[in-house]
Amino acid sequence: MKYIAIITGASSGMGREFARQIAAAYPSLSEIWVLARRLPALKELEAELPSKRIRSFSLDLTKESHLQELEALLRRERPCIRLLVNSAGCGHGGPVAAQNWKDACSVLDVNCRALTAVTMICLPYLRRGSRIIQMDSGSAFLPQPGFAIYAASKSYVLSFDRALGAELGDRQITVTSVCPGPVDTEFFQTGGITLSPLKRMFLAKPERVVKKALFDAEAGKELSIYGCSIRLVRLAARVLPQRLVLAVMRRLFL
Ligand SMILES: NC(=O)c1ccc[n+]([C@@H]2O[C@H](COP(=O)([O-])OP(=O)(O)OC[C@H]3O[C@@H](n4cnc5c(N)ncnc54)[C@H](OP(=O)(O)O)[C@@H]3O)[C@@H](O)[C@H]2O)c1
Repeated sequence: MKYIAIITGASSGMGREFARQIAAAYPSLSEIWVLARRLPALKELEAELPSKRIRSFSLDLTKESHLQELEALLRRERPCIRLLVNSAGCGHGGPVAAQNWKDACSVLDVNCRALTAVTMICLPYLRRGSRIIQMDSGSAFLPQPGFAIYAASKSYVLSFDRALGAELGDRQITVTSVCPGPVDTEFFQTGGITLSPLKRMFLAKPERVVKKALFDAEAGKELSIYGCSIRLVRLAARVLPQRLVLAVMRRLFL
């Protein structure tokens, strides 16, 4: 039986960091499949990681034919997926009314539709003890004026993960939602987002967020939250009236 890890969004940011840390921490995996659209960046990762275990796949996960390619590949090779990491994601900032609906919906295509499809395509190949790690966000905990569609997409991921984790409990497969605050990756540049001075103050290093995520996933935790600012945000979203939370968010981020 071939044991593998699958990592989406591995061409940059936290996905790439997951590939590095998984390669170092899981020497028994036969292969690490890294997925993203930019093949040159994946090939760079292959060259950087010395073992011959990295396999790159240039896939646009919003395209049905590319998802079918992944499905067919798994059907052919029938590996055991020890770790699935869904890190592909994107976001655009600004008030909803100021955005182009096509760009806005493309965020949902990657963050919700692709994540759901990849998870479902991989499910038959997960075994007892396998781990699913979903890159979620601290913005999943509350609506966020100025980042409304992204935050809503991440709330979807959190809800999906919780229910899926409950369904998979009998098979001892756990689902960990990773919910960091701002992390220093290409994410903001790609989405044309200017980081507010407040968010910049809490910018985390991808290495640390990923290290904690892998640790929490192995411990079978539902949530992996890096940094106390997001713990506070989560607490505030739970205990304060939503109208008050929204008024503060509006003032801070719009
Ligand atoms: N950075 C943050 O502040 C932050 C905070 C909380 C949560 N997150 C979440 O963490 C995850 C990783 O983000 P990051 O910060 O590492 O950002 P990033 O550096 O921009 O990485 C995003 C990855 O997603 C891939 N991707 C985007 N669209 C795709 C598509 N259609 N098909 C396949 N792959 C696609 C990109 O690869 P290609 O362009 O090569 O396709 C890239 O590898 C995302 O889900 C993000 O929402 C980020």
